[in-house]
Amino acid sequence: MEIIDSRNVLQSIVKEFRLQGTSVGLVPTMGALHEGHLSLIQCSNKENDITIVSIFVNPTQFNDQEDYQRYPRIISDDIKKLESVKCDFLFTPTKEEMYPEEDKREFDFGNIDKVMEGSHRPGHFRGVALIVSKLFEIVNPHKAYFGEKDFQQVAIIKHLTKQLNFDIEIIPCQIIREKDGLAMSSRNILLSEDQRKNVSLISKTLFESVNKMKLLNPTETKEWVIRKINENQFLKVEYFEIVDSETLESVNEWSQSKNITGCIAVHVGNIRLIDNIRFYS
Ligand code: PAF
Repeated sequence: MEIIDSRNVLQSIVKEFRLQGTSVGLVPTMGALHEGHLSLIQCSNKENDITIVSIFVNPTQFNDQEDYQRYPRIISDDIKKLESVKCDFLFTPTKEEMYPEEDKREFDFGNIDKVMEGSHRPGHFRGVALIVSKLFEIVNPHKAYFGEKDFQQVAIIKHLTKQLNFDIEIIPCQIIREKDGLAMSSRNILLSEDQRKNVSLISKTLFESVNKMKLLNPTETKEWVIRKINENQFLKVEYFEIVDSETLESVNEWSQSKNITGCIAVHVGNIRLIDNIRFYS
């Protein structure tokens, strides 16, 4: 695995590969890699000749400075993990390399960045769009891989790719869960032992909520999920929304859409976790 921190160097290496007809997969990450990230890399390895992983804790997507400072940075562990799977290039740019000057671009994503994460983390998706578009410009991969835990982020990135005319296929990959159901996240390592024991209630409740569909309408299901999770002293639901998976608009009747997703954000002390579940009507 070659480690590169210069955007120009990476850009010219990839250009050369593409000229030779080599297919390129990109897995953008913020590091603190876990099995979820490794599964994205394995997917990319299956579908491309070379895989490039980027690790960059992107300051513009954090609406909370403390969250940015606290975000785990464990690059030597990450390198070991990347060496255990096949990764051809690791891109680890500095802040100055990615943002040599302030990037003032604004994006219009219609409704999809106004709800859920968008309304609770102002500016978050603009920051994601800034960095992902920069990575796409530098790497220009054939395919880019993103985890479905960040369900709304995948929708935003698909939109961005279309809007900016990137000829890149966005591949969403399924959530990888711990044995007790907790969705894998870089933030999980920040949980205390007690918090860790209690957070499995989030996914357990989401799984159970799918069975409630026969008895409860979406509004009642929402209330049931929020009440059940909030009963736990370690957990505080920020939002749980049941939405059309394409438009991200709230659903009031199960018959309203064939593809429905429940998205949740939960505070566990000062750590914030997200997860989601598919409902089929
Ligand atoms: O999902 C993430 O880890 C980040 O939001 C991403 C896509 C790497 C952009 O910084």
